[in-house]
Amino acid sequence: MNIDIPRLEKIWLWIGGAMIVVFLAIIGFMGLSMGLHPPGQMRTLAPELVDTTAPFNTPGLVPIGTNEYRATVVSRIWTFQPNNMTIPVGSTVHFEVTSPDVVHGLYIPGTNVNIMAVPGHITEYTYTFKKPGEYLVLCHEYCGTGHQNMMGKVTVQ
Ligand code: CUA
Repeated sequence: MNIDIPRLEKIWLWIGGAMIVVFLAIIGFMGLSMGLHPPGQMRTLAPELVDTTAPFNTPGLVPIGTNEYRATVVSRIWTFQPNNMTIPVGSTVHFEVTSPDVVHGLYIPGTNVNIMAVPGHITEYTYTFKKPGEYLVLCHEYCGTGHQNMMGKVTVQ
């Protein structure tokens, strides 16, 4: 069988095929070299157990090494616990975030910290604060009438 494909159509087929190869290569590159991947094997925690399960029953900032901290954050209507953290400049913070009620967000403008707080799940993200200053912590997921008041602060000094 010999199908006669017009020349322009052949060119477009090659362009389409090349785009698929390029997109897959980009996804492979980001996944393998930059560690970007969809959340998998997430830790889970039932919303009704948040207040009685360690470490979320005592949310806060805990030093775990030199200039290294673990921030256990409970996002709830309409506050972050803790909502005020102070760290030395250059500190690496391992965030672990969950919610006992509805979906919240934890966003720190000017950084890459942009975390979803989903009931039932524990979301983790690590960030190094290299510049001193006061960072605003915002809920960026509409969560009810107090949403706009849901904020906190990270002071890097
Ligand atoms: Cu919490 Cu919006």
